[in-house]
Amino acid sequence: MTTSMTLPLWYDLHVHLRQGENMSVYIQAQLDMGCAGVLAMPNTKPPVGKVLESDPVDGYWSIENYMGQIMDAGGTAFKSVITPLYLTKDTSAEMIKNGAASGMLKACKYYPPHGTTNADHGSPLAGFIDNGVFQAMSDAGVVLCIHGEEHGTTGVDYFDADHNAEKNFYLNEMPALRAAFPDLKIVCEHITTKEAVSFVKSSSDNIAATVTPQHLLYTVGHLVQGLKYHLYCLPLVKFDADRDAIRNAVTDPDNTKFFAGTDSAPHTTKATPCGCAAGCFTGGVAPQLYAQAFEEAGLDLNDTHAQKSFEKFLCLNGPQFYGLDIPEETFTLMRVESDVETLQCGSESVTPLPLGLGMNTIAWSIKRS
Ligand code: NCD
Ligand code: ZN
Repeated sequence: MTTSMTLPLWYDLHVHLRQGENMSVYIQAQLDMGCAGVLAMPNTKPPVGKVLESDPVDGYWSIENYMGQIMDAGGTAFKSVITPLYLTKDTSAEMIKNGAASGMLKACKYYPPHGTTNADHGSPLAGFIDNGVFQAMSDAGVVLCIHGEEHGTTGVDYFDADHNAEKNFYLNEMPALRAAFPDLKIVCEHITTKEAVSFVKSSSDNIAATVTPQHLLYTVGHLVQGLKYHLYCLPLVKFDADRDAIRNAVTDPDNTKFFAGTDSAPHTTKATPCGCAAGCFTGGVAPQLYAQAFEEAGLDLNDTHAQKSFEKFLCLNGPQFYGLDIPEETFTLMRVESDVETLQCGSESVTPLPLGLGMNTIAWSIKRS
């Protein structure tokens, strides 16, 4: 008998919908893979650096405005859309307080300055500890979505067998943040290391984490052998021991803290003459890839206990953390091979994993109920 799982529609709690003409194509790709809703990251150009149009800062889009763009591009089909505020040098405690009171502000995103795609407006963490922004977020119950990598590092401090920017961040910076704001709700985004897993596990229920398909499936060997640049995203895929720790965390039957956030980040141009744009695209294929990862972690998805662990990770833990309703509508994942194709956006295209690694099929397919 064919293995299949019928699951509630799920929330992708970390995704990049971008802006402009391609947005509707990226939104459709989310809907096609059973998404009830999304948390749409604010690293647009300009960034979503204010909450309300009336916030007295220049040079940013507001959440009000960006939410309107998402709705115009087909986002009305989602049950729920969250757009975090991009934390910049201009973010103030006042903006947080008013934004939360208006009902528009549910989360803020910390980007390490210059640390990833469109992170040039990021501002150092210490500033938000000192200027009242994190306190205001804690007081108002606004979630901090954190890109946990130490900024400004190079060479061996950035990536080495013993050190990397994420490990350093979770060992050196996060414990102090947690101690200073024990009531602040934090999502450690797209975690890639065993140190991040330990940090989340050793924290209270206020602290959770998103995990991407690529960080469950691949290691740095997959990236460097043949220089598979479609797998280049930040934080970088890491080592086998890191992947093992993340796999154990997401497949644990008692998991309540680790949930799906694909970090699907469409780039119509990946390789450039002097480097590579960071971001993997998994629109349309993420639940299938997560199912593959659970199997590679040793779970038999015919087994009801294994299916329950998968459901917690993909469909239940995330909405529970953000206080979103679990939808009654369902979709079905079947262990039937399917083709993976490039996503056409007008004259441009985006290459999803695992096609970007040279594989044009996945062991699973999806059916919207
Ligand atoms: C993301 C993007 O392309 O917007 N890239 C990535 O490598 N993950 C930005 C981000 O979330 O870091
Ligand atoms: Zn991201």
